[in-house]
Amino acid sequence: MLSLLALILLIFLLSMIWPPNSPWSPFWRTNRKRSRLICKLAKIGNEDVVFDLGSGDGEMIITAVEEFKAKKAVGVEIDPLRVWISKMIVLFKGQGRKIKIVRQNFFDADIKEATVVFMYLVPKALAGLRPKLLKELKPGTRVITFVYKIDLPLIKEDLKNEIYLFKIPK
Ligand SMILES: C[S@@+](CC[C@H](N)C(=O)[O-])C[C@H]1O[C@@H](n2cnc3c(N)ncnc32)[C@H](O)[C@@H]1O
Repeated sequence: MLSLLALILLIFLLSMIWPPNSPWSPFWRTNRKRSRLICKLAKIGNEDVVFDLGSGDGEMIITAVEEFKAKKAVGVEIDPLRVWISKMIVLFKGQGRKIKIVRQNFFDADIKEATVVFMYLVPKALAGLRPKLLKELKPGTRVITFVYKIDLPLIKEDLKNEIYLFKIPK
């Protein structure tokens, strides 16, 4: 019993240092308070189709739909456990018609209908996604990141909360 507890504690501690673009990073997430600030900075409203690339437990897209009335939201997540958890939460909240969770590598995701793309990922993953965003997103699409920045034209920032808003250029 003691060794099981020690193992759980070890996994928990290790997960703190695993990078947030890894499927093994369970404790890096955006909470409801931050999700609200993100939606406010991106001015999400009822015309928006919001994508979260690496959507974790889905908190950000759920906030976008529940509180900011986004037309539609899509979470792209590679980790089957988090896909299952977020699908259960969406189902429980009765938001299944507006929120879609896709189990997929975000490099392969079809993102062209997005008007807002959110990412909480490490700089290496953001840099890797940059060409895809520039190729597939419409000019004017808002891109919003948490903690780490992406190399795109910066429109607004909330330094205190480490939230950055960018726009896909023409
Ligand atoms: C830091 S967490 C952010 C979760 C969520 N966006 C949030 O803000 O709470 C990063 C997420 O990206 C997922 N992820 C990492 N690489 C991925 C990939 N190639 N394709 C899809 N999801 C990926 C991880 O499983 C993890 O859930």
